[in-house]
Amino acid sequence: MPNIAIYPGSFDPATNGHADVIARASRLFDRVIIAVGRNSQKQPLFSVEERVALLQETCQNMTNVTAEPFDGMLVDFARGNGAKVIIKGLRAVSDFEYEFQMALANRHLAPDVETLFLMTSAHHLYLSSSIVKEIARLNGDLTALVPDAVAVALRAKFALQPDELRSERLP
Ligand code: PNS
Repeated sequence: MPNIAIYPGSFDPATNGHADVIARASRLFDRVIIAVGRNSQKQPLFSVEERVALLQETCQNMTNVTAEPFDGMLVDFARGNGAKVIIKGLRAVSDFEYEFQMALANRHLAPDVETLFLMTSAHHLYLSSSIVKEIARLNGDLTALVPDAVAVALRAKFALQPDELRSERLP
């Protein structure tokens, strides 16, 4: 049986912090499926299709990694794909309470699926999708913050938006 892990998230958009967690997970598991979901608390900048395509481009050199959209319960998606592990990245203590709550809810729903936390690299500690959107909106330097494909997509997204829309679209 291949050892399959799901790495879920909004990835709006993927950052180098996400890419770091994906690379670590790809070394630990036979197969990693990046599950791009909708967070009911967030209004996304990129469509699910755009986010999946950006992740596919970012991970094209990792042969055991794929990216797919998912709807509904995460544990159902994990079980449907034969995955026993959900990977989550942890940055600072501020991530912990929310992630701990999600992990316990998922364990309650599916005791056979384990959540595994991977620590981010120290130099990605401050990085988040919200921060890179803010930097892109203000036309700041995205070097070393996001994969190249994401930087291009962010530039295109904000260049196409009128000023008043820019601030409204940010969560
Ligand atoms: O990157 P995010 O925004 O923290 O990702 C959150 C996401 C999409 C992984 C999470 O909202 C999720 O798993 N949604 C699916 C619904 C679900 O299974 N929720 C967990 C039990 S309450």
